[in-house]
Amino acid sequence: MSKIFWYEVLESTQEEARRLAEAGEKGVVVARRQTAGRGRRGRPWLSPEGGLYATFILPGEELAFPPELLPLAAGVAVVKALKALYGISLGLKWPNDVLYQGRKLCGLLVESLFREGHPVCFLVGVGINLNRPVPEAPQAVSLGEILGREVPLEEVLSGLMAAFKEVGHLKPEEVLSSWRAFSETLGRRVRILHPEGSLEGIALEVSPYGNLILKTEEGLREVAFGDCIHLRP
Ligand code: BTN
Repeated sequence: MSKIFWYEVLESTQEEARRLAEAGEKGVVVARRQTAGRGRRGRPWLSPEGGLYATFILPGEELAFPPELLPLAAGVAVVKALKALYGISLGLKWPNDVLYQGRKLCGLLVESLFREGHPVCFLVGVGINLNRPVPEAPQAVSLGEILGREVPLEEVLSGLMAAFKEVGHLKPEEVLSSWRAFSETLGRRVRILHPEGSLEGIALEVSPYGNLILKTEEGLREVAFGDCIHLRP
């Protein structure tokens, strides 16, 4: 993971990364701002100057764990990188929202590039609020707010690059145990918003493929995706 593709502005680093990956490139695509940033489940991701908007191109053969665990592993990489850089303690909300004291600092979007029906490459989008207060989202926090100073984009990017390089080498059980160690979801009452309806219960565990196992009134349920809301105990 050495090549950096820098842009002043892109619609979305995900689309540029897809184009580069299709041309056989790997590395990280970074833009100072995005005009059509995308969040999970098709939501827009506001991307003015002052944030970090990057997509890591990760070839499947460089992962030592099943790709289903990549969303969890990506969260682990961000938490480890920011701890190593700034000594801050962050948590993860399933599958991979990075939280500081319950407020969202970073969102991650994992997409796949398919060839002949198989995923061959993964695009891990990272959006971090760096130096811009986020008044439009009181549940969000910026790194600058946490540290009480301006944070250089290049510094955070190089920490992330080091962390993403390492995370690919983790064994499946190491991904899961690191994720559990940072999880703020396990043991809590949660609501999962799913296209087929919502589900409420206690988050008991993550499965070997990163699914969340819930204890609901109807028994154990396993969810592979959806929005997770932490409910009050
Ligand atoms: C989420 O909904 O929490 C995920 C947000 C992911 C945003 C990042 S910013 C860089 C990359 N480019 C995009 O268009 N989205 C991701």
